[in-house]
Amino acid sequence: MSVSAQTLTLPGGVATRRRPAGLAAGAPLSVINGPVAAMKLVSPELTQAEAMLRELVISDVAAVPTVAGYLVNAGGKRFRPALTALAARVIGYDGDVLSLMCAGEMLHIGSLLHDDVVDGGTERRGRPAAHTVWGNPVAVLSGDFCLARSVLLAAEAGGHRVVTELGHAVTRMAEGEVLQLQRAHDLSTDLDGYLDVIERKSAALIAWCAAAPAWASGDERTATALARFGRRAGVAFQVTDDVLDFHSGTGKVPGADVREGKITLPLLFAFEADPTLRDRVAEGVGNADATPALLEAIRATGALDRALAYADTLVNEAIEGLTDLPDGPGKDALAMLGRTLVDRAT
Ligand code: IPE
Ligand code: IPE
Ligand code: MG
Ligand code: MG
Repeated sequence: MSVSAQTLTLPGGVATRRRPAGLAAGAPLSVINGPVAAMKLVSPELTQAEAMLRELVISDVAAVPTVAGYLVNAGGKRFRPALTALAARVIGYDGDVLSLMCAGEMLHIGSLLHDDVVDGGTERRGRPAAHTVWGNPVAVLSGDFCLARSVLLAAEAGGHRVVTELGHAVTRMAEGEVLQLQRAHDLSTDLDGYLDVIERKSAALIAWCAAAPAWASGDERTATALARFGRRAGVAFQVTDDVLDFHSGTGKVPGADVREGKITLPLLFAFEADPTLRDRVAEGVGNADATPALLEAIRATGALDRALAYADTLVNEAIEGLTDLPDGPGKDALAMLGRTLVDRAT
């Protein structure tokens, strides 16, 4: 079975553990800034990747650097390139790590340009979303440009295996976004349906970012372990993102998921705690005036803490799955990065 086709083992019940013994606690984070402590080890690579990202959006078609550069320059946590750099440290990868780092981030940026069009997001990275400034056609096509840049980098730096896996990741992302659209407003969506969407739309790329250096080295066994780590941490990351929809200060408009009728884990847990919320949410979809009261009612059920505990268990499992990888500062930082992807919401 190929790595990309492997299924994710998810915790069956509700999590109660908060932090595994013996692992460094995540540093407190700002929601928008990167998980600084975990990324410190690879700050030289991240600085170089930053410069490379700015070069990658250069084009003689002026709208492209304007729109893609707008999102590159707006920052973002950059945890995907950090994940690639840390994975490279863990395995002692001596190839072109910068290109692999930028391939993941460029694909992510392209997917953000598309995602804001698809789900009508109006703020991104603390700025008006690109489509609200330049319109949908230019935002979508600039996203395609970023995606193409990503593919070229992956092919040049990593070769056939790496670019093939990137193709699988893009496929899953597109499927996840389409599935989510199909299931929006379908309040009968269950936990498995939700997990299926987020594994595809978010975790597949994060898994690729973690495993790319190992695939590039031809080390399939390690790639499998790193991809599994990335996939589990990626699901935990998206659960946390869905909790952060209830917070302000994220650089995105709060309550967007509830307003769009997106089924997320906080919503599923809230329905379990208070079944009358199902009808209230159904009535409130698309109505911005109803959103604040709905957010408050969902919060009052304790669903946000329960969702975070779920993410916490998942990230602990991800970290426990790293045991066969070589010990050292790279592995410790990788574990800390995984942990801080969830801790940012606490
Ligand atoms: C946002 O990802 C899109 C999701 C998959 C939830 P990030 O939260 O990593 O966005 P940036 O890169 O920090 O802006
Ligand atoms: C985005 O998921 C996933 C991709 C970009 C593929 P969300 O829709 O939850 O991300 P945000 O909240 O807009 O960043
Ligand atoms: Mg979105
Ligand atoms: Mg979101």
